[in-house]
Amino acid sequence: MGLLDHYRGYDGALIPVLQGAQDIYGYLPAEVLEKISQELKIPFSEVFGVVTFYAQFHLKPRGRNIIRVCLGTACHVLGGSRIFNGLKELLGVDNGGTTEDLRFTLESVACIGACGLAPCIMINDDTHGRLVPDVLANIIEQYK
Ligand code: FES
Repeated sequence: MGLLDHYRGYDGALIPVLQGAQDIYGYLPAEVLEKISQELKIPFSEVFGVVTFYAQFHLKPRGRNIIRVCLGTACHVLGGSRIFNGLKELLGVDNGGTTEDLRFTLESVACIGACGLAPCIMINDDTHGRLVPDVLANIIEQYK
């Protein structure tokens, strides 16, 4: 693995190697973590501990499109949970879940900084606001 050759022997290599591996695979499969552990001579438990500590790392495959549903105060008050439940139903996944076709991953977040558009969601880098459950199917249809 070129990535490992590049970083082998450097202090502080673990995080950039994990980031690089996740860029390649989209997530961090167990066998990749084992290889990183062996090659960098860092105990597997330590590698695993770092991966589970940082929210940026993922142990399971992620969808091509990441839907973040805001459940912050403003969105909650204006029906954010109805939007969240609507999306769960449409996609057939729970919080943190990924559809079987790897099209979507659904996550809840606390405030995406668009409270004036509450209730709102982000899909990848796009913000969709002032939502009602009826429009959700049309919105997700735009993301393949
Ligand atoms: S509470 Fe939802 S954007 Fe701020």
